[in-house]
Amino acid sequence: MGNPAIFEKVISHCKEYGFVFPSSDIYGGLTAVYDYGQNGVELKNNLRSYWWKSMTQLNQNIVGIDASIFMHPKVWKASGHVDGFSDPMIDNKDSKKRYRADVLLEDHQEKIRLKIEKELEKAATRFGEGFDEIVFKQTNSRILEYQKQVDHIYTVMREGLEKGDLAMIKELIVAEGIVCPLSGSRNWTDVRQFNLMYSTQMSATDSGEDSLYLRPETAQGIFVNFLHVQKTSRLKLPFGIVQTGKAFRNEIVARQFIMRMKEFEQMEMQFFCKPGTELEFYEFWKAHRLKWHKTLGTPDSKYRFHEHVKLAHYANAAVDIEYDFPFGFKEVEGIHSRKDFDLSKHEEYSGKKMRYFDSETNESYIPCVVETSIGLDRLFLLAVCEAYSEEEVNGDTRTVLKLHPAIAPVKAAILPLIKKDGLPELAEKIYNDLRMDFNVYIEDKDSIGKRYRRMDAIGTPFCITVDHDSILQGDVTIRHRDSMEQQRVNIKDLSKILNDAVNMNCLLKQLL
Ligand code: GAP
Repeated sequence: MGNPAIFEKVISHCKEYGFVFPSSDIYGGLTAVYDYGQNGVELKNNLRSYWWKSMTQLNQNIVGIDASIFMHPKVWKASGHVDGFSDPMIDNKDSKKRYRADVLLEDHQEKIRLKIEKELEKAATRFGEGFDEIVFKQTNSRILEYQKQVDHIYTVMREGLEKGDLAMIKELIVAEGIVCPLSGSRNWTDVRQFNLMYSTQMSATDSGEDSLYLRPETAQGIFVNFLHVQKTSRLKLPFGIVQTGKAFRNEIVARQFIMRMKEFEQMEMQFFCKPGTELEFYEFWKAHRLKWHKTLGTPDSKYRFHEHVKLAHYANAAVDIEYDFPFGFKEVEGIHSRKDFDLSKHEEYSGKKMRYFDSETNESYIPCVVETSIGLDRLFLLAVCEAYSEEEVNGDTRTVLKLHPAIAPVKAAILPLIKKDGLPELAEKIYNDLRMDFNVYIEDKDSIGKRYRRMDAIGTPFCITVDHDSILQGDVTIRHRDSMEQQRVNIKDLSKILNDAVNMNCLLKQLL
């Protein structure tokens, strides 16, 4: 169930507490480009590190690489991005605004779906207890009409996109009377394909001969290094190669905060296996990746699989892991069985044999690939949306990020109760002891209550308060973020208490 009001709060919270800022904000920002602040970068690093360790450290047959963003232009010809990585776009002649044609149609469908919801709500109030939603949906003429319209849009849009018949898409937009959200007019251009890759120049001259693309996905860096890694690692099939890094797409309809950005980060794995075994590994990775997501503490009901009905010509299975964001279920990660498409294409375009010699069967073949591809920024958004909560405490609202302690930006705050009597000095000593192993924070400003609230807001799992008894008895009060329970513990036990809760092993162990 969507909750747009909460989403607005999450966005403001991210800005107010140093998680995410609009890029170049002092100049008015840059559409769909964001910067991570002091807390955001820690959370993002922790998420990346958890993914990386779970892939490489836990699997002997998976290794990582770090390929360049710039790649030979032929890579993108071979991968199909030059010819096929585009969206159908339409411009409104009055507002001069460009839209993705399929998104305009999807938004229109959504509006009709909302009308259905409204009819259902009205009927539920009218009929009370005895209201049967299923029967009502099947019999109410207005709802049936709306549903017919939704289905019609879907069918025609799908047919048009499949056939590449852009005139058909334009006709549908006109027939549905869709207006530009800005100008309110129906004065549309034709629909055209618009490539999503950004290009730039390798050299100082801009003759155009040496133009390059900023990579739109990290996956190709893995494919082109397949032979190097296989030879130098001496890995036998099946094995995987992972990488994380920036990708760039000229998303026209960039929206929903860091959900759809022009510059974003991916974490991808290509798992190479013997042809004929790929669907088995596809099933394995599908289940394993969902399990990975759930280790972060998100309830099962917040995830679902979305199986692709229409597969790309090179795939024999594909699924998205979707999360129930405040604006509805949306893709976070894709798992695709890509057969031997990518390596075959690189063999064709580079003239190099992209084969694996199987010493057991004495044959050479192009391996098949199962890909897992997750957007780090989307995962970040998921983590923050899931963790954000508001609670009533003594007539006050406490905003707390209930992040898993292993991914929380700051692990503990050390807070001397007052700024005298040796308390700051003892706090400093505790801080110095802990900072070697944990990202800890020390603060003596404001009341203890205010300091607790600030730590709750950034998701710090523990607050350690140093008081007069600490000096006399060598113990401190440790406050747990979620329960707000306080417990007296010995200073020398602090490191173990923290480690038991925040060590990445807490997450990794759940995957074994
Ligand atoms: N190599 C396969 C690939 O790139 P994709 O579905 O286009 O597949 C994979 O992208 C993941 O990357 C998505 O599931 C999403 O999490 C993330 N992603 C894609 N486009 C994005 C964008 N514009 N902004 C943020 N994340 C994006």
